Amino acid sequence: MAVLPILAWPDPRLARTCTPLEHGEDVTALVADMFDTMYAAPGRGLAGPQVGVMKRLFVIDVTWKEGDRSPVACLNPEIVAASGELSTAQEACLSIRGVAMPVARPARITLRWWDAAWQMHQQEMTGAWATCAQHELDHLDGTVIFDRVGAELRAGLEADYAAAKEASA
Ligand code: NI
Repeated sequence: MAVLPILAWPDPRLARTCTPLEHGEDVTALVADMFDTMYAAPGRGLAGPQVGVMKRLFVIDVTWKEGDRSPVACLNPEIVAASGELSTAQEACLSIRGVAMPVARPARITLRWWDAAWQMHQQEMTGAWATCAQHELDHLDGTVIFDRVGAELRAGLEADYAAAKEASA
């Protein structure tokens, strides 16, 4: 069990596409460390590349800040269906500290993934689950929230981010 260092944007690893895990690969220790890191951050989601692991996995828990923990580890996750209807939520990222931005995404998705014991799951997600899962899945394809907003908003937010980073350095 360990809290891992989280990479800060614009680390080039956050812009790369991750490779699938080998089916059956033992990542239980890594997953435990990723949960420790996410809870310590504190955050609701953490993807492999954010801790320098260029593999397709992420961990999420969208309820723990308000009450009970509901940890979900997603290995080789895939969106198998997405609604045409979009929903916009204010998103933040542990790799882009100090700024949040409105991101529009499908309001409902069906996600398929394997857990750390290599059991397959398929579930419809809405609300914070859908937002969080899509945000983390984006990380596995080298996409961050800056890439999901318009150029003008992005320029302002990048300046705010640089200032926040400077202030905390
Ligand atoms: Ni993020």
